[in-house]
Amino acid sequence: MAINSVLVALTFVVLAQGASLGQDGRLRYDNFSVYKVKFETAEQRSILRKLAEDRENFRLWHEAKDELHLMISPGAFNEFDTEIQRTNVSANLFISNVQELIDSEEEGNLKASRDGTFGWKKYNSLAEIYAWLDEILVAYPVITESFILGQSYEGRTIRGIKISYKSNNPGVFIESNIHAREWITSATATWLINEFLTSEDDFVRNLAENHDWYIVPVLNVDGFVYTHEKDRMWRKTRQPSEISTCIGVDPNRNYDSHWMENDGASSNPCAEDYGGPNPFSEPEIQAMSDYVSSIKGKINVMLAFHSYSQLLLSPYGHTKEEFPPNFDDLLAVAKAFGDAVESLPYGTVYRYGSSADILYPASGATNDWAYNEQGVEISYTIEYRDTGRYGFILPPVQIIPNAEEALVGIAALLDKCEELGYLRLKTTQ
Ligand SMILES: *[C@@H]1O[C@H](CO)[C@@H](O)[C@H](O)[C@H]1NC(C)=O
Ligand SMILES: *[C@@H]1O[C@H](CO)[C@@H](O)[C@H](O)[C@H]1NC(C)=O
Ligand SMILES: [Zn+2]
Repeated sequence: MAINSVLVALTFVVLAQGASLGQDGRLRYDNFSVYKVKFETAEQRSILRKLAEDRENFRLWHEAKDELHLMISPGAFNEFDTEIQRTNVSANLFISNVQELIDSEEEGNLKASRDGTFGWKKYNSLAEIYAWLDEILVAYPVITESFILGQSYEGRTIRGIKISYKSNNPGVFIESNIHAREWITSATATWLINEFLTSEDDFVRNLAENHDWYIVPVLNVDGFVYTHEKDRMWRKTRQPSEISTCIGVDPNRNYDSHWMENDGASSNPCAEDYGGPNPFSEPEIQAMSDYVSSIKGKINVMLAFHSYSQLLLSPYGHTKEEFPPNFDDLLAVAKAFGDAVESLPYGTVYRYGSSADILYPASGATNDWAYNEQGVEISYTIEYRDTGRYGFILPPVQIIPNAEEALVGIAALLDKCEELGYLRLKTTQ
């Protein structure tokens, strides 16, 4: 078992359990490690998932069909080793010290901040993103329009920007940073906004001007601020639970579409994929639903930005026993994205398929809700870089490469949609 040699070295070090608070009031993840755990049976999966519900010591980073990524506190190595052996699975270390990655990300942010405020050499805070949006709206008053989804649980405004160069364009909706710790998503969304407004490249101009863009750079605003100020690894919303001391709901399991079906979300408020006490319990998701419903006649394509694992996930999430009526088209459109991205010099590979088939059943997610309940026939979750070397803490030097891939991928995706007849106007505007 790959883990044993690492464990022998570490079990002699006695450490306090759980993350500790740093002087700046942020949680520290010194010597927290992240392992890829391969499993084969449903029983193994369920034992590993149980482990992840002890949030002090284990946190779920990523789950796929045959693999979980678990972050482990240094004090819980023995328990982890015991469980790994008991369940007869193999574990491979891929991050040995999460705090080290957070520290270098923070250093990069501070360094980039000295050269100016907003930019894509660093990850921006919500205040920086909103201040930049205001500048953009003033600089491009004719083609941009501000919109507001609503207010978060903690009372923050959830903002969006519409970019429209002309009437009668097909509409593309981009939802980003619904999961708080997935910082590359809002970095990519803001970079795209900037390209659509400032690029002089014909390829980009064509893409920008022939579609109407509705972009929400940060949907889970409370969670996002929390990742900047308190806990870099936070995923969920920040609304307290009435039945538990654990805070927050997985907003991407909270939409009213096959909600909680087929174990597609957890009913445990402490789990990372807790579906909430009821669908739309989270004000952020209710707000998103109200807004999208009000303009759904204008939306041809829904793209929900996530990280990490380099995947394009189409409906359905709630079952792998059935596939949507236009599944072949959804695969062809996803393939166009993947091929375009892979053809860039970076050579980054994306896989694609239905959420339930490629990963595991996940119900109540944006892509399924838009497809099932809002009649948006082209609907994906895009999981950006990487595949696990850095996970959620993707170094700032990768922001622009990732965003370039998104741009080229989305352009190819929309070309394929056009070819297959999905960009026709749904209503007169
Ligand atoms: C992390 O582990 C190393 C040994 O592997 C130890 O020297 C160090 O003190 C630990 N750091 C903290 C903050 O516990
Ligand atoms: C553990 O896995 C190995 C390899 O897959 C297998 O040969 C062995 O029978 C398993 N043991 C148990 C107790 O399941
Ligand atoms: Zn996500």
